[in-house]
Amino acid sequence: MLGRMMQVMALALALALSCAGQQYQEEAERIMSSTPVIDGHNDLPWQLLQRFNNQLRLPQANLTLLNDTHTNIPKLRRGHVGGQFWSVYVPCETQNKDAVKRTLEQVDVVQRLCDLYADTFACVTDSAGIRAAFQSGKVASLMGVEGGHSIDSSLGVLRTFYRLGVRYMTLTHSCNTPWADNWLVDTSEEKPVHHGLSDFGKTVVAEMNRLGMIVDLAHVSVDTMKVVLRISKAPVIFSHSSAYALCHHRRNVPDDVLRMVASTGSLVMINFYNDYVTCKETATLADVADHMDHVKKVAGAQSVGFGGDYDGVTRLPTGLEDVSTYPALVAELLARSWTEQEVKLALAENLLRVFSKVEEVKRSLQDTAPHETPIAFEELEGTCRTSYGYPNRAGTARLLPAALALPLALALLLSLLS
Ligand SMILES: *[C@@H]1O[C@H](CO)[C@@H](O)[C@H](O)[C@H]1NC(C)=O
Ligand SMILES: *[C@@H]1O[C@H](CO)[C@@H](O)[C@H](O)[C@H]1NC(C)=O
Ligand SMILES: [Zn+2]
Repeated sequence: MLGRMMQVMALALALALSCAGQQYQEEAERIMSSTPVIDGHNDLPWQLLQRFNNQLRLPQANLTLLNDTHTNIPKLRRGHVGGQFWSVYVPCETQNKDAVKRTLEQVDVVQRLCDLYADTFACVTDSAGIRAAFQSGKVASLMGVEGGHSIDSSLGVLRTFYRLGVRYMTLTHSCNTPWADNWLVDTSEEKPVHHGLSDFGKTVVAEMNRLGMIVDLAHVSVDTMKVVLRISKAPVIFSHSSAYALCHHRRNVPDDVLRMVASTGSLVMINFYNDYVTCKETATLADVADHMDHVKKVAGAQSVGFGGDYDGVTRLPTGLEDVSTYPALVAELLARSWTEQEVKLALAENLLRVFSKVEEVKRSLQDTAPHETPIAFEELEGTCRTSYGYPNRAGTARLLPAALALPLALALLLSLLS
């Protein structure tokens, strides 16, 4: 008899819980229909390069029908995605080779995406543009360069990317640049070179502040995070990073850095990749919510965002399989007593605040001249460079040690004389 009563009570409880679940899901949908999510990092452009060599008009590349990626148009709609920073990523192996050309081609493919699917995507370049896209029900599309190797140590290339619409740059991907250290120096896999940023690296950050390009600290070393949080005149973002306290992976953000994020008005957009969420191959939606809770606890609700890393990772949590699942995560936050206002901050308002502040800093620096001092030739890497603009022997200094250069010059002189 008692057993039977327990069964009935358990059933009633389960029913009540699932009704509550349903209610949170509906509330999430309602909130997101006016405040959709702005996600910090999506690698669809990389998929388009790898699968189709950027040929958007191939029938199999149709973004409405594409069904084996995390991202397609119906999934973006179901997920209430209202803003997306598309990564114009090219791998570290392009460094000192064709990084600039390949990055330009990824910028081009995003711009063609906006043209080809103009009913879905609106390419925008400022915070007002994002709000306007919300109004028109389109996915505000912005571009982030993922890794300083993409500018090939050139302020001129950085400025040109800005003019083409790029609005953030991750200072490194998973390799050092000639001016910034990446997260692998916090493991034993790479040696620290700059212990943060070189002097030229600090100039890159100053130029990004002047241009109004958001500085992204995903993928950099802890020293680089701290230097930038100290010197940047504008708040920064981590476009796709999670909390180190919950999973000791060096791609994640430690608590002392989270406190600097809070004091600078910056933003951590939580990465969903299983390996960063649980440090294991498996994870669940609730594990991702734990990271959001943690950043909220340490740095406040004004420091939390979403940076799913969709189409850039191979393993995603159960419940967050593709870009249609953001509302389920929002429902989980509501179930954990996040207020509607806190949810809206994480969905979009935090990113809009940071972006507006970056734009304000740009305006305040409008009378500042562009930074013109190039990186020293000796700090560049790679052997196939020309040295126009540098003093005559700049090129040979690196390629030929002085001990070798002198006899060679003498031999040349002798051969000319003979
Ligand atoms: C993609 O497929 C849809 C549905 O068949 C079609 O309406 C649309 O024109 C196609 N778009 C492109 C760019 O091929
Ligand atoms: C996925 O798309 C391909 C090519 O458009 C199609 O042949 C296939 O049937 C689709 N698969 C599913 C599960 O919808
Ligand atoms: Zn990344």
